[in-house]
Amino acid sequence: MAAEFVTAVKTSEIPTDGITAIDVRGTRVAVANVGGTYYAFADACTHEQCSLAEEGELAGTTVTCTCHGSEFDVRTGKVLAPPATLPVKVYPVRVAGDALQIEV
Ligand code: FES
Repeated sequence: MAAEFVTAVKTSEIPTDGITAIDVRGTRVAVANVGGTYYAFADACTHEQCSLAEEGELAGTTVTCTCHGSEFDVRTGKVLAPPATLPVKVYPVRVAGDALQIEV
């Protein structure tokens, strides 16, 4: 299945400076709301697969996985602090009216 933008959730359902996990066509995606800008990434820490929506703490554009302390940049998925060594996959997002669309 080719990647395409899918309406995933209403923007109002994602709390400011919070992370919400949603299912997008069978893929579990974490969506962070950083002061009204949305970022989508795989909802699994690349260290030992903890949910970043459930175990992650968001501070600005950094999510810290509280399982063992890995940090990622939600904009790029890049690792900012170990023990994770691999980036998390990020997904393009766009806002259409009150809908958040994610390309998966
Ligand atoms: S599972 Fe996230 S740091 Fe270990």
